[in-house]
Amino acid sequence: MRTDSPQTIYRKDYTPPSFLVDSVELGFDLDPARTIVASRIRMRHNPASSSRSIELHGEHIELVQVRLNGKVLKPSQYKLTASTLTIPKAPDEVELDIETILAPQDNTSLSGLYVSNHNFFTQCEAEGFRRITFFPDRPDVMARYTVMLRADKAKYPVLLSNGNLIEEGDLGDGRHYAKWEDPFKKPSYLFALVAAKLVCQEEHFKLADGRTVLLQVWVEEGNLDKTDYAMQSLKNSIRWDEERFGLELDLDRFMIVAVGDFNMGAMENKGLNIFNTKYVLANPRVATDVDYAGIEAVVGHEYFHNWTGNRVTCRDWFQLSLKEGLTVFRDQEFSADMIGTDTGRAVTRIDQVRTLRQAQFPEDAGPMAHPVRPDSFVEINNFYTVTIYEKGAEVVRMYQTLVGREGFRKGMDLYFARHDEQAVQCDDFRAAMADANDRDFQQFERWYSQAGTPVVKAASQYDAAAQTFTLTLSQSCPATPGQPQKLPFHIPVTVGLLGADGCDLSLIVDGVAAETNSVVLELTQAEQTFVFAQVKEAPVPSLLRDFSAPVVLQYDYSDAQLLHLFRHDSDPVNRWEAGQRLAMARLLKLTAAHAAGETLSLDDTFIEAQRALLADDTLDAAFRELALILPSETIIAEQLAQVDPHAIHAARQFMRRTIAEALKPELLAQYHANLTPGDYSPDALSAGKRALKNLALAYLLVAPGKEELALAQQQFDSAGNMTDRAAALVALIHSGDEAAAQAALADFYRDFSGEALVVDKWFAMQAAAPTTDVAAVRQLMTHPAFTLKNPNRARSLIFSFANGNPSQFHTQDGSGYAFWAEQVIALDALNPQVAARLARSMDRWRRYAPALQEHMRRALERVAAKKNLSNDVMEVVSKALSN
Ligand code: TRP
Ligand code: ZN
Repeated sequence: MRTDSPQTIYRKDYTPPSFLVDSVELGFDLDPARTIVASRIRMRHNPASSSRSIELHGEHIELVQVRLNGKVLKPSQYKLTASTLTIPKAPDEVELDIETILAPQDNTSLSGLYVSNHNFFTQCEAEGFRRITFFPDRPDVMARYTVMLRADKAKYPVLLSNGNLIEEGDLGDGRHYAKWEDPFKKPSYLFALVAAKLVCQEEHFKLADGRTVLLQVWVEEGNLDKTDYAMQSLKNSIRWDEERFGLELDLDRFMIVAVGDFNMGAMENKGLNIFNTKYVLANPRVATDVDYAGIEAVVGHEYFHNWTGNRVTCRDWFQLSLKEGLTVFRDQEFSADMIGTDTGRAVTRIDQVRTLRQAQFPEDAGPMAHPVRPDSFVEINNFYTVTIYEKGAEVVRMYQTLVGREGFRKGMDLYFARHDEQAVQCDDFRAAMADANDRDFQQFERWYSQAGTPVVKAASQYDAAAQTFTLTLSQSCPATPGQPQKLPFHIPVTVGLLGADGCDLSLIVDGVAAETNSVVLELTQAEQTFVFAQVKEAPVPSLLRDFSAPVVLQYDYSDAQLLHLFRHDSDPVNRWEAGQRLAMARLLKLTAAHAAGETLSLDDTFIEAQRALLADDTLDAAFRELALILPSETIIAEQLAQVDPHAIHAARQFMRRTIAEALKPELLAQYHANLTPGDYSPDALSAGKRALKNLALAYLLVAPGKEELALAQQQFDSAGNMTDRAAALVALIHSGDEAAAQAALADFYRDFSGEALVVDKWFAMQAAAPTTDVAAVRQLMTHPAFTLKNPNRARSLIFSFANGNPSQFHTQDGSGYAFWAEQVIALDALNPQVAARLARSMDRWRRYAPALQEHMRRALERVAAKKNLSNDVMEVVSKALSN
């Protein structure tokens, strides 16, 4: 075991910075092996601080010299550690000149300044700036930046940084320079530079106030045929933020740069967003509908950060969700508004619910559970989580549910009026929402401070004589690490009542008539009762409509009630939810039956409900597709006290096969009814049709005959876009026809070996196939196209296997876990952030059958025992192992 225990940082220990920075001038002499960084920082003492010493961060960089107000400091005048540079007793006004040397080509962590495919990029969030120069690298230190870049002109013709280009020219020796100035104060994590051989698609775009701005999307040569959609998404984002929130682009120039080696999705650096190629590059040949939707969402997300994150930033990293939760909410609303229809909105909402259940609920129930505003962390990079992002977005959404769209806008306006160019806290956002709407959001604070997924129990009683329907809601929340007891949350529960004809009943709750078919009940106590009056018949309650809060809702629905909701609920999210409940009840029974060695069977009621839905052409194809997808193996596992991945897999496969056989004619009919001939378009309607058609194909290939195989083969051979080609390939891989699958995989690789993002898909499809075992994954790792160094590639194979192929990952002999341990250790030596993400695959280990648990514990201990393990991985595995 490592002897030095990594240091935990606590929110309660926050102290203001001792010195504030007015301006930063940075000079870069860029060289892959030896880059020289000169920095001039003008600082002044912060009256809010009692400390007189200047505290700078710095890691993995060589300090050449430091001058204070013109005088070179002797080593005795400062203290240098592996991660800090401290100058004690500094005067009020300080000008620091610091020179550092770094080796970007050796930086495999992809944090700080690094080289990707011979080009230079930076990634400074959260604490990467300190890998470039010594600086108070904390988000509450906001400064003006001027940046001079110098580099070889032939190798790096493009030199970019934040803000505006104010000067460029030749240096005479084959080198050139560019000087950039960012007119806005910003924290260091938003600094960026790019020095590269790239080309761009550019456009002049007119803002609402009449100003014209320059928009650019930078990519490697050869990818200019894949930038249209990112550019279109950027323009849509700019328009949308103007219209929905009155927020305008504050720069004359806005750039997006794509890079193939990137730890996350993208980064909102001021005026210079840097993106994983996955969220920029698309054309119909290489990108799927899901890829297109991802590009729209991420381009929107990073653009929206310009106001929520950059103009108003975080005081400290515990407030991360202040910018991330809010910005995810904004990108979700953007994507929904881009579709425009009510069902379209609902489809995006259903996707969000699926993500929460698939990833956030498990996180909230596991060893890494943390509140939306954490109280402590060891490594901040481990806290860019689904809780901070997606649950954080749910918390923001609840304000909108509670105060309405207009009220939410008022709250946003007040937030910007109060906090523009400040570094603030989650509490400040809550206060703005409360004050703008004259609401008390005191108790709402618990959504930020308490971890865990609340459980809301509902019980009801209909009194025919009094014509009242009484709904009792109670809440509880399971214990999470460090939080044994929870206090009640302020939970908006949106409710409607369905009559026997399937229509919504009008609502009078506690004496007040509702204006719409749904009413938002506010559950604030441990238990509360709501009385609906003038209810003429026993209704079926539709609870938690539009998933109005990130909770588990329990209500003792009968099958008949669920079928009624599945057929008629006017709220599409709950209509879908009723189907999921019907499916889940059966999946749990089948799982138990399989484990007990009983024969499996599925009732006709469920099949007939699926049949009716499949053929209901009044419903959007996108909605039908979602309603037909069974809960994933991960989501099923979360319902069980003890997880047997093989039983779950067998149960779900049995259900899929039974549905496929029973609905074969309908599936075929829908396959043909939802073809999208003509030019490819990623719009929601066409994408929905393709999704339904390809779901039908997947079902038809669960136990295929000759005709089904031929259908998939034909789609694979003639597909005019990647959505259809990839879907056909996946169907063939899962068909059980090994020869057909292998042939198609070989064709696919031959056709797309030059497209890195498609090669990622090729690895991912194989990794997630139930026929791929550990040995096959090891074999794939020897493929010349495989490398652990590229995060997208590592994710495509290793992560897809560990997280997306449960029946092979969790084999009885523990070989999946041994493989996991090996890869975590190997990755950690290259890139701790990525390694720590893989380490999370073992979070739920205590839920597995004892024999598996034992193997998992040993794998965790093996990782924990590794010498020189990063703080990133150490935090994850030690939390997993601790009680
Ligand atoms: N702020 C980025 C976003 O959400 C996240 C991000 C990008 C990030 N790269 C990172 C976080 C590297 C940590 C480390 O848009
Ligand atoms: Zn973000």
